[in-house]
Amino acid sequence: MSKIDNVKGYENKNINWYPGHMAKAKKMMQENIKLIDVVVEILDARIPYSSKNPDIDEMAKGKYRVLLLNKSDMADPAKTDIWKKHYEDKGFFVSIVNSKTGTGVKATTEVIQKACQEKIERDRKKGILARPLRAMIAGIPNSGKSTFINSFAGKACTKTGNKPGVTTGKQWIRINKNVELLDTPGILWPKFEDQRMGLHIAFIGSINDDILYPEDMALELIKILMKDYPGVLGERYGIEREVEESASPVEILEKIGQKRGCLKKGGEIDLVRASKLLIEDFRSQKLGRITLELPV
Ligand code: G4P
Repeated sequence: MSKIDNVKGYENKNINWYPGHMAKAKKMMQENIKLIDVVVEILDARIPYSSKNPDIDEMAKGKYRVLLLNKSDMADPAKTDIWKKHYEDKGFFVSIVNSKTGTGVKATTEVIQKACQEKIERDRKKGILARPLRAMIAGIPNSGKSTFINSFAGKACTKTGNKPGVTTGKQWIRINKNVELLDTPGILWPKFEDQRMGLHIAFIGSINDDILYPEDMALELIKILMKDYPGVLGERYGIEREVEESASPVEILEKIGQKRGCLKKGGEIDLVRASKLLIEDFRSQKLGRITLELPV
């Protein structure tokens, strides 16, 4: 049995890490969603499936939808293109961005306009003067919401005060003449439909590592790398090609520990240290640009 099965709540396949926070965040999103035209959901391009919260489909019924594949600089570009097409086929408007450097961020205005084209046309026919489209950013913790908002809004943006008819206290950030952003992003808690999803979310740092066992995380990562990125582990840790191809994930983890001197007092390999080292290498991109999921 994997150690993760022992984690309280995991067997329910729906962990309530912070039930209080989650309920509050969801309530706030439900209230705010009434005020906007379009929901811009930020996904982590390394896990475009696990970082997308299906609850939002229900909450955002009737709203236009944009998905941003953020942290694209850390993801595998070919797989990012596959995911873009996958979600476009499902009817979403999708943009590939790197919020840290700003690549693709400005173009989000155009994507938002395309997503809202129907409304723009409808208003025009009715003779309604075009007003800026109102958008809300949503996403799971650590997906890059604040970084995106700062980059999208830039320095020149102006915060508009309370609007008549709008709940007091709401602040809007005027991006340009076409788009306004609600300044509080919607925080969505990740879904844990199965153990693997939980692990993937942990890889990108959206949940506290202490909840999971590092060895479980490392073994899942090794499995994915052996299958989808052969040669990467060998190159990074100096493992011979034949060994990498024939060894089991545990043996590979042992090799990593051995090669990197992760040893316990008696000389036994310290698998926890080896696991943490591997996870850190993944997070700091020392293993290259890696995407952990593909559409099924
Ligand atoms: P959140 O509001 O959704 O919780 O996420 P936040 O913007 O705080 O971003 C979480 C981390 O992800 C930050 O790193 C941020 O710099 C990084 N990040 C966001 N977008 C991108 C991106 O497109 N590419 C890359 N490479 N990183 C991105 P951090 O280490 O927590 O902070 P910092 O050291 O960068 O300040």
